[in-house]
Amino acid sequence: MTYLLTGVTGGLGNGILTVLSETVSHKDISVLVRSKVKGEPFAAAGYDVRIGDYADEQSLVKAFSGIETLMFVSGAPGQTVSRDVQHKNVVEAAKQAGIKHLVYTSLANAEHSHSVLAPDHIVTESLIKSSGISYKILRNNWYLENETNIFKDALDGKGFVYAGGNGKVGWAVKKDYAKAAAHALMQPFTTNTTYELSGPLLTYADLHQAFETASGKRVDAISMTVEDYKAALTRAGLPEAVVGIVTAIQADIAAGELDVASHDFETLLGHTPTPITQGIADIISEIK
Ligand SMILES: NC(=O)c1ccc[n+]([C@@H]2O[C@H](COP(=O)([O-])OP(=O)(O)OC[C@H]3O[C@@H](n4cnc5c(N)ncnc54)[C@H](OP(=O)(O)O)[C@@H]3O)[C@@H](O)[C@H]2O)c1
Repeated sequence: MTYLLTGVTGGLGNGILTVLSETVSHKDISVLVRSKVKGEPFAAAGYDVRIGDYADEQSLVKAFSGIETLMFVSGAPGQTVSRDVQHKNVVEAAKQAGIKHLVYTSLANAEHSHSVLAPDHIVTESLIKSSGISYKILRNNWYLENETNIFKDALDGKGFVYAGGNGKVGWAVKKDYAKAAAHALMQPFTTNTTYELSGPLLTYADLHQAFETASGKRVDAISMTVEDYKAALTRAGLPEAVVGIVTAIQADIAAGELDVASHDFETLLGHTPTPITQGIADIISEIK
């Protein structure tokens, strides 16, 4: 089997590459990067480096040549070419290049989600499903690492501040998402499958308790309205675009958009996800 992984310069893709490389020979793994310079560390490590950009379909057709299984890590919103168009390019190129199997990282409950992040994933899932390529869709819930700034501020004495109300989230650590994706790549593609990858469902109040346990510190929990949170982030000097997306996601969480219960994570991982207190302790040790 020949594999090509996208997103390897990012946290998730790099984690998938690490786990896949424990089982699959480097010579059977290609990586997609956006420039020769970005590919240098991967070439030095013995991987086959392909240059391509989601915004340039023809670069992808060339990059995907001779590949059987594609790990398609979803791209970043807010680029010059919109993410839905970029993702369409990836699926079209995969078809043209004769990719047989595809794994895509999507969003929790994508097809019924009203999240600000959902539209690109809805389009992409639909394109994949009608592509004729066999697929596994991994609907990743929410990285625990997304809460690093909340943990940092709490450690700095600013309180544990959030605006997600009582909404439940299936937080899990990024390395578990990476391991699940690597397993999805290596297990047979017998039926097209969509996995909901949620950790145990917790509210921010639960996360606050877990934070106190992991840090050994008493910290006030401050539950704000989305409007007050937006004003606080703006006063703190965050760029308008960042404030917009962060508050939109807190509103999504408050509305229950990430409240998706599933045991698919355990199925793919082969064990329960990393306990949340352990995950927080690991993040705190990186902050210090
Ligand atoms: N479920 C969640 O909690 C959550 C949270 C955040 C993001 N996400 C999604 O999950 C993805 C992976 O997460 P991550 O933490 O690994 O993100 P990340 O560290 O930002 O990495 C994103 C990767 O995508 C690549 N990429 C972006 N645009 C591209 C393009 N036009 N052509 C080719 N490659 C492109 C980047 O390459 P460069 O180095 O060239 O930029 C990078 O390797 C994100 O891209 C996003 O779609 C999910």
